[in-house]
Amino acid sequence: MNILILGGGGREHALAWAIKQNPKCDRLIVAPGNAGIALVAECADIDILDGAAVVDFAAENAVDFVVIGPEGPLAAGIADACRAAGLSVFGPSAAAARLESSKSFTKAICDACDAPTAAYAHFSHADDARDYVRTQGVPIVIKADGLAAGKGVVVAMTEAEALDAIDDMMGGQFGDAGAEVVIEEFMDGEEASFFVLCDGKTVLPIGTAQDHKRVGDGDTGPNTGGMGAYAPAPVMTEAVTQKALDRIVRPTMAAMAARGTPFTGVLFVGLMIKNGEPRLVEFNVRFGDPECQGLMMRLGGQILDLLQACAEGRLDAQQVHWADDHALTVVIAANGYPGDYAKGSRIDGLHDLPEDSFHMTFHAGTTTDDDGHLVATGGRVLGITGRGATLAEAHARAYAMVDAIDWPDGFCRRDIGWRALT
Ligand code: AMP
Ligand code: GLY
Repeated sequence: MNILILGGGGREHALAWAIKQNPKCDRLIVAPGNAGIALVAECADIDILDGAAVVDFAAENAVDFVVIGPEGPLAAGIADACRAAGLSVFGPSAAAARLESSKSFTKAICDACDAPTAAYAHFSHADDARDYVRTQGVPIVIKADGLAAGKGVVVAMTEAEALDAIDDMMGGQFGDAGAEVVIEEFMDGEEASFFVLCDGKTVLPIGTAQDHKRVGDGDTGPNTGGMGAYAPAPVMTEAVTQKALDRIVRPTMAAMAARGTPFTGVLFVGLMIKNGEPRLVEFNVRFGDPECQGLMMRLGGQILDLLQACAEGRLDAQQVHWADDHALTVVIAANGYPGDYAKGSRIDGLHDLPEDSFHMTFHAGTTTDDDGHLVATGGRVLGITGRGATLAEAHARAYAMVDAIDWPDGFCRRDIGWRALT
């Protein structure tokens, strides 16, 4: 089978690495890919936001199955373009991707099915939004309605911060994505990410993880796309998982189907858990990055069968096979991230690192320069992942690899997994 994965981050490297292990995979192409992905797949330079370009490329290369990694192409309707051309594709339609591309849409779906989430209001005029903040008080959470590359949420501890966030977002900081804002009640508790596949009818849980969003040790500093993750998340007990499925996931998936826009793909359910009660923070319509790296280490080659069954509406007959193990990913980012950072610095030491089912270096923002050296091209650059029988073992393996990497222009958090390890 010939498979095309769209994307070029750590998530797509992990997907490619796992899919490649399945004997059904003959040819694997990733567009655009990166220097690490090039070690396990062919990389192709196509515009993944252009449906016609993706469909033409798939036809020319006899692609049997398309897997869409990031939210950008999903929101842009690339899954719809593939389906219209008769291709088998993993990923939701643009209409179903609104669960990520519009926060107010998700809140309205939660209202319609009584799914537990933060109380909220939705504004398209800044004056009304400011008045609401003044009446509600702080802490309060201000969210750009549309896609803002993980930067569209401000958890405001003071009224001034909240008012500034409204001015920035509605003043064009994120373009049209901030033209409307959702203002939410601050929820306190422990966060976890819950991943389920859905084929429009059946919901199949495939794993949990916990991310570390803040840039600094001890959960300090600005929010990032994620500085590390571990899987599974201990807070996702059997009871919490059942509540999340019964009260949030199944009702919202049924509501999407009833609207004529069934969701097919992976639903990333961001939860806040307090006293054993999960509430929805947000949905994403794709795997998390870096959460995906640990999930793929734990699932391995079976992921291809699961993604295909999801795309073909056969999830009711699928089972997920788990080892009783743990995975932990440490992100190494360019100095300065999530602010300004330099590109093009050289990374050494990767050749000597072990690569097997317990150790993997997933690349997020790398390329190879003219002299054949690995260089950094992004903010988050590497996702060093260890797997083990215990979280402590996975942690030790990941940090041993981190310490063997020679990249003076990069940094990482030293406390990934602390909540579950202490
Ligand atoms: P999101 O992009 O919606 O996941 O938000 C980014 C981060 O902001 C989340 O992972 C939470 O840490 C935080 N956050 C979002 N909404 C809330 C809320 N209502 N209460 C507390 N924290 C929140
Ligand atoms: N790591 C969080 C995300 O992928 O949105």
